[in-house]
Amino acid sequence: MKEYTLKTKMRSYQWDELTEEQRELVSIAKEQIKRSYCPYSHFHVGAAAKLANGVVIRGCNQENAAYPSGLCAERSALFAAGAQYPEEPVVKLAIACFTGGHFTKEPGSPCGACRQVMLETEHRYGGKMEVLLYGEDEIFVFESAADFLPLTFVSENLNG
Ligand code: THU
Repeated sequence: MKEYTLKTKMRSYQWDELTEEQRELVSIAKEQIKRSYCPYSHFHVGAAAKLANGVVIRGCNQENAAYPSGLCAERSALFAAGAQYPEEPVVKLAIACFTGGHFTKEPGSPCGACRQVMLETEHRYGGKMEVLLYGEDEIFVFESAADFLPLTFVSENLNG
């Protein structure tokens, strides 16, 4: 038997420690919570994806009376980016969560399905995508989407 310990890396920042570019993107994700369609959970999630050409694609969660038909904010932004700018790498993704009249104190963390899509986005363009998770108390910054999934499943794995 062999045991492996898998490590991942993230950093915690205060608002004024972020770069101007990071603050701008996180602010757009925060704005996006107003457009969230979440009549069932009342949990608003905003996302903003920055492309290599500087364009920012906005996303937010979209719920549905048939619950599984809804979509998370992260995937709504990444799929919109892929649909509108298929050749343009996504270089940064910011997320903010809002519930009970305020942004969450702790940063919200992407669900498993969003992590897989974040990984595919990074893999597709062959470069790292920085991920910023906003919380009122601290902002988590991940250098790469792969930091969320230490054991990855990407296209090469389909070849056995
Ligand atoms: N949600 C997101 O938009 N992103 C996540 O990573 C976690 C959950 C949404 C889905 C649903 O509309 C609401 O939050 C509650 O789960």
